[in-house]
Amino acid sequence: MTQPEPFRIKMVEQLNRLTEAERRDRIEKKGYNVFKLKSREVFIDLLTDSGMSALSDEQWARMITTDQAYAGSDSYEMLSSAVSDIFGFDKFVPVHQGRAAENILFSNVVNEGDFVVNNMHFDTTYANVKHKGGTPVNLVIEDAYDTRKKVDFKGNMDIKKLENFIDEKGVEKIPLIMMTVTNNTAGAQPVSMNNIKKVSKIAKDHDIPFFFDACRFAENAYFIKVREEGYKNKTIQEIVKEMFSHVDGFTFSAKKDGLSNIGGLIGMHDEELHRTCTELGIIIEGFPTYGGMACRELASIAQGLREATDFDYLKYRCKQVEYLGDLLHKEGVPITRPVGGHAVFIDAKRFLPHIPQEEFPAQALTTQLYIKSGIRGVELGSSAFGETDEDGNIIPAPFEHMRLAIPRRVYSLNQLKYVAESVIELYKNREKISGLERVYAPELLGHFMAEFKPIKGKN
Ligand code: F0G
Repeated sequence: MTQPEPFRIKMVEQLNRLTEAERRDRIEKKGYNVFKLKSREVFIDLLTDSGMSALSDEQWARMITTDQAYAGSDSYEMLSSAVSDIFGFDKFVPVHQGRAAENILFSNVVNEGDFVVNNMHFDTTYANVKHKGGTPVNLVIEDAYDTRKKVDFKGNMDIKKLENFIDEKGVEKIPLIMMTVTNNTAGAQPVSMNNIKKVSKIAKDHDIPFFFDACRFAENAYFIKVREEGYKNKTIQEIVKEMFSHVDGFTFSAKKDGLSNIGGLIGMHDEELHRTCTELGIIIEGFPTYGGMACRELASIAQGLREATDFDYLKYRCKQVEYLGDLLHKEGVPITRPVGGHAVFIDAKRFLPHIPQEEFPAQALTTQLYIKSGIRGVELGSSAFGETDEDGNIIPAPFEHMRLAIPRRVYSLNQLKYVAESVIELYKNREKISGLERVYAPELLGHFMAEFKPIKGKN
């Protein structure tokens, strides 16, 4: 049965469509980095699902009617009751986005030489751990690395690897176990409740705090409901509460499942951690009742959190992503399967087997898709996650993805059909695509500012 949108459109934004020649010129001038394009140079923007949601009339209404105050605005009260109702946490610190939450949390708990364990760090968590002198460690199950393998909960932590790692390094060196729900890096893949429980037990047994990187908690809860035994008859709200009952805290970017354009949170039960995070928050973000945001943004998050946990919305949302994935898979385009929560991940290693990872196949694919169709995806491969050795040689990342992230409540199925047709067309002509040479990249989060040039000039 079709899952129709549980909303209708009240306001539209006109899109701008350049010609192929114009796009070719623009991307060349921007060093083949799609982050440097103007949004008006993009026809369909699938760079990220972050901060790109269409707000609801209820969100806008609360944004207008809330007061604006440095201290004690009623939007803070709205947010407090949403955080308590949805996550079951009474202590939290609002911040302007997810990476600010990571910075404040890690500043308080991570010391030089520590290890932070995660099923899989996303780029900002990885960089923030490193920035504090720690080492980020990914302990996801091996199946996650096989983009063809259909496994229900490919985001799960490998329990054996986790136990071995703790035994090997010792609890003193591990200030935090994190779990990213859903696992963005490996294809928006969910984590099962069973796995959350097991990791929680290990963390408790070793007295190590266990936190979620909770950006896409609602999508993860949807997958638990539809895929995990015993959850079919539970509501999303019940599943979310259960998920969060197993952790000591969480970082959250409200730009994803907060259905908002900006914002973030750090939630915790520990009083002392709440105090130290609040105090550091005041220095780098702002007073805790606004956390680096305008008060209307807190109101948007408070309402967004409630809308994001609506089952009809989540079903429409996840089915929309699956629709794009299915169109591509049917035509043989290599994607990560099963299709995950917020994006379709194209496996550029299989799409462009003639381009070695040192020549950034996913980046080459991303720029070609933009040139040919005006669609902006993003590289999540060796540019985003690769490293370099002392001689400057590229150490490739385990994945070579081009991600097509779908903003929430923004694009129609027709637009996604156009995206699929464009990728399929590129796939038919894939041997014409050649690799890129990276000519510049900063050390941390280098992909945002990196510059490339075509290797054989065929592009
Ligand atoms: N954790 C995960 C799993 C993320 O996907 C992101 C952001 C963050 C943390 C940081 O949140 O952007 O609010 O600072 N991901 C975006 C993306 C940018 O495109 O996937 P932020």
